Amino acid sequence: MIGDLIRRAADALRSARRITVLTGAGISAESGVPTFRGAEGLWRSFRAEDLATPEAFARDPKLVWEWYDWRRGLIAKVRPNAGHVGLARWEARFPDFVLITQNVDGLHPLAGSKAVLELHGDIWKTRCPAEGTVRENKDVPLPEIPPRCPACGGLVRPHIVWFGEALDPAVIQAAYAASRASDVMVVVGTSAIVYPAAALPLAAAEGGATIIEINPDPTPLSEQAHITLRGKAGEILPLIDQALD
Ligand code: OAD
Repeated sequence: MIGDLIRRAADALRSARRITVLTGAGISAESGVPTFRGAEGLWRSFRAEDLATPEAFARDPKLVWEWYDWRRGLIAKVRPNAGHVGLARWEARFPDFVLITQNVDGLHPLAGSKAVLELHGDIWKTRCPAEGTVRENKDVPLPEIPPRCPACGGLVRPHIVWFGEALDPAVIQAAYAASRASDVMVVVGTSAIVYPAAALPLAAAEGGATIIEINPDPTPLSEQAHITLRGKAGEILPLIDQALD
């Protein structure tokens, strides 16, 4: 049964000219990065409004940075898994391939994906609100919390899109364009409830794409998916990869 679905997914990918993949926290779960929702999700233990909003940062930058410093420490210890590696291989295999992620952990680039549209930013970068300068920062733990801008001395913030903030227009526009133009869109490990990311598969479906969902649990997208693969990204993606050979 799952074998048939894997073959159907591989056939769809083989005959597609343009392929887009959208990933969420679920693809990093097998690496050991906590997801946001679900039994062990971060939003079960923490309130997003205390930690992931501009208001929270204005109120208590130290608390917000302590939380990011803790998450950076967790992520620094883990490695990309077979799911990330499989997608990095697809980038090399398919000439017209776009990877869009909601993740900020940097595990796709670490697995070898070169062109990644990071919708929600990058936990390994800081941004100076005064200057707008974005800098890579890989210190674990951070030597100073909250960290300061080396140029102007002001507080820097995580280069992350928080609740209530707009996505980088260039990144979301590129993601929409790729989604609309795709023949196949594979949606991996996302609860598909946070917009505008959740609208991308809908745009792809409207544009006539075959939607393949990889997720152990149903999501609001499941009803629209043409092929639903109920399983873990780190198991399903390598099986599709094998079926492609
Ligand atoms: P969620 O935590 O909302 O959802 C994770 C999804 O991954 C769920 O649907 C799980 O069923 C699925 N999942 C769990 N383990 C998996 C596995 N091994 N393989 C495949 N799927 C698995 O994470 P996102 O959808 O990414 O935003 O959340 C979207 C956004 O909400 C995040 O980017 C973050 C959060 O608040 C910001 O921080 C701006």
